[in-house]
Amino acid sequence: MSAGQMKRGFVRLLILVQVAAALAGPVAGELSMGYYGMTCPFAEYIVRNVVGEALMKDPTLAGSLLRLHFHDCFVQGCDASVLLDSADGNTAEKDAPANQSLRGFEVIDSIKEAVEAQCPGVVSCADVLALAARDAVFMARGPYYGVPLGRRDGTRSVASDTFLALPPPINNVTLLIQIFANVSLDVHDMVALSGGHTLGIAHCANFKARLQAETETLDSSLATSLGSVCQGGDSATAPFDRTSTRFDAVYYRELTSRRGLLSSDQALFESPETREMVSMFAMNPSYFFYAFQQGMYKMGQINLKVGDEGEIRRTCRVINS
Ligand code: HEM
Ligand SMILES: *[C@@H]1O[C@H](CO)[C@@H](O)[C@H](O)[C@H]1NC(C)=O
Ligand SMILES: *[C@@H]1O[C@H](CO)[C@@H](O)[C@H](O)[C@H]1NC(C)=O
Ligand SMILES: *[C@@H]1O[C@H](CO)[C@@H](O)[C@H](O)[C@H]1NC(C)=O
Repeated sequence: MSAGQMKRGFVRLLILVQVAAALAGPVAGELSMGYYGMTCPFAEYIVRNVVGEALMKDPTLAGSLLRLHFHDCFVQGCDASVLLDSADGNTAEKDAPANQSLRGFEVIDSIKEAVEAQCPGVVSCADVLALAARDAVFMARGPYYGVPLGRRDGTRSVASDTFLALPPPINNVTLLIQIFANVSLDVHDMVALSGGHTLGIAHCANFKARLQAETETLDSSLATSLGSVCQGGDSATAPFDRTSTRFDAVYYRELTSRRGLLSSDQALFESPETREMVSMFAMNPSYFFYAFQQGMYKMGQINLKVGDEGEIRRTCRVINS
């Protein structure tokens, strides 16, 4: 068989698999696996390629892509509202006061451009983001999970919408539970999804208070090293765990040694409601992976826009005119 024949054979097989998946029908409300099987069969493949190239150049983007999807879903649902730029008279979510140090927007732009070149006006930015987060986690050696598709993009992105919807990095598990419950995620999901902090970094502005106020629950050698990091000011950074580009259970192990970075991280181990889960995830990484998959599946379906709602944005940064 020639390379060309093999490629065509492979393409046919791939399309067949995706058609079969599409026929398998909706799996999660109005979303379905293989949603773009007929209309943009290579969409998932394109996302994986662009994410792979981006992470090859900069592995720290894995955490950033995961966090973008989280911030998207918690504010106005998973509708790519986090990707919209501010416009005349409107300050968008991404420019909320602390602007959350979100990164990775350029990766999403590149994916969308590549997808639009093949199938214009078909694949939503919200789906691109959900897939990019999934692939980033997997490429950082985390779990792989299926992402049902068919989300549509929203037209609203208002900075103040982030205030109540996004959890602050504080020492109050009751409040964290409430914020997650408001989007139908239970305490188990909350603890598992917090494991997203196995990737990435935080700025001193977000953890320096812990250095003074929480000496009892902060390992003294970590306190010393974070103290010297923060001599560099609020914009200095520290990783959440020792393996910040690798998706693993080290984050939870650090919590059990009182080496959590944010107050909200350490609180998960200090609070009787969540301590047992932290210990379980620390001891059993595959249980964490399983719980994380389940949590991401649920998080990816918060307040969806489907059917006639929303639109398929042409460019992820601006609504269609
Ligand atoms: C439990 C409530 C949560 C709180 C209070 C919280 C808070 C924060 C804060 C303050 C930062 C650091 C921002 C900075 O200083 O630059 C951060 C980073 C991050 N968060 Fe969360 N977060 C939470 C849940 C989650 C969830 C559910 C995920 C994903 C599933 C997630 C993924 C991330 C990632 C990957 C980073 C690092 C981003 C990077 O390195 O660019 N977080 N989070
Ligand atoms: C906000 O975004 C700008 C531009 O991306 C960045 O330079 C700045 O550090 C960010 N501010 C915060 C507080 O993250
Ligand atoms: C709870 O979710 C609803 C949308 O379902 C949102 O309008 C409201 O602002 C949220 N409240 C909090 C405190 O996050
Ligand atoms: C934690 O948050 C809850 C819910 O918002 C609030 O009622 C409680 O007073 C807070 N606890 C502390 C110690 O701040």
